[in-house]
Amino acid sequence: MQQQASVPEVLDFGSPKASFRDDLLSGLQQLPKSIPSKYFYDERGAALFEQICETPEYYPTRTELEITRTHGEEMARCLGERCLLVEYGSGASLKTRILLDHLEEPAGYVPIDISREQLERTSRIIHGLHPRLEVLPVCADYTGDYALPAPTRPARHVSVYFPGSTIGNFTRPQAASFLEHVAEISGEGGGLLLGVDLHKDRATLDRAYNDAAGVTEAFNKNLLVRANRELGADFRPDAFRHVAFYEEDEGRIEMHLESVRDQIVRVAGRLVSLSAGERIHTENSYKYGLDQFAELAQGAGWSVVACWTDPERLFSVQYLEVNPA
Ligand code: AVI
Repeated sequence: MQQQASVPEVLDFGSPKASFRDDLLSGLQQLPKSIPSKYFYDERGAALFEQICETPEYYPTRTELEITRTHGEEMARCLGERCLLVEYGSGASLKTRILLDHLEEPAGYVPIDISREQLERTSRIIHGLHPRLEVLPVCADYTGDYALPAPTRPARHVSVYFPGSTIGNFTRPQAASFLEHVAEISGEGGGLLLGVDLHKDRATLDRAYNDAAGVTEAFNKNLLVRANRELGADFRPDAFRHVAFYEEDEGRIEMHLESVRDQIVRVAGRLVSLSAGERIHTENSYKYGLDQFAELAQGAGWSVVACWTDPERLFSVQYLEVNPA
C-alpha cells in the first residue's frame, strides 16, 4: 500500500521582480494610461475576485464548474495515468478536486502560485483531502522562470491545468508565447487542460463585468486603494467611474477607470494629471471562437484533442497535447 505523503513544503523561486511602483508609474505616463491587470490580486483583490465568481451575472465560474462536473471523468482520462498534475494559479477549487477524485494514480500535484499564503492554504486543503498524494507546491510567477519538482514516484508525463480562462487576460501574442512556454515546461507527451471563454452576445458579456451589486467595480477600484496603501498615493476612488464594455472588433471585454473630473494625483512622489473623462485601461478579457483558439494553439505547438462546452456554448474546457517534434 502507498504511504501517506508528508505535509507539503513550499519550493520558493522568489518574489516577483516587476514592481508595482515602476509598472504603475510607467503605465500612468503613457497615453492612453494603463495599469497591468496582474496588480488586481492583492489579498483584498483576490477576495473580491472570489466574490465576483459568485455573482449571478458572472457566468464563467459556474459554467466551467458544471462542464467539469459533467465531463470530469473524461478529462481525467485525457490527463492520463500517473501524470504529474501542475496547476497554474492554484485555487484548491472545486474543479481541481473533481479532477483529483477522477485521476488514476497521479504521481503528484504541483500547485504554482505567486502568493505564498494562497499556496500554503491550497496545499493544506489538498493534502487533507488526498493524504496519499504527493503535493509539491511551487511559489513562482508561472509565466517566468521556475523548475518543476520531481515527485518521489516517477511521472509518465506532465499535465498542466489552467482553469478560469485566465488565458483571456493575455493579448493574443502573449497567449501564444505563454502556450509555447507551457509546451517547453511540459515537454514530450505533455498535456494542457484549460478553460477558454467563448464569444457570445454583447448583453451577457456586459452584464458579467458590470454586476448589479458593484463587486466588479470594487475589484477595479481596488487597484487605486492598493496604490494608496502600498505607495502612499492619494487616489480618491470616488473620483473614478468603473467602465467595462465588450469591444467587438478586438473580441474582448475592456475594463477602465474613468476620471470623473479634472484632477491631479500624487503617486510615489510624482504628480499625475487626469482630465475629466480620461480613462486608465486596467484589463482585457479576450473571448475566443473554438476554431480561432485551435489555430492559436496550433501555432504555439499544441493540438486540441478534446473540447467540452455547456449547452449554451458560453464556455469551453479544452485538452491540448504537445505536437511531436
Ligand atoms: C481572472 N480572469 C479570467 C477574470 C476575467 O473574467 O477576465 C478577471 C475578471 N475581471 C473582471 N471580472 C473578472
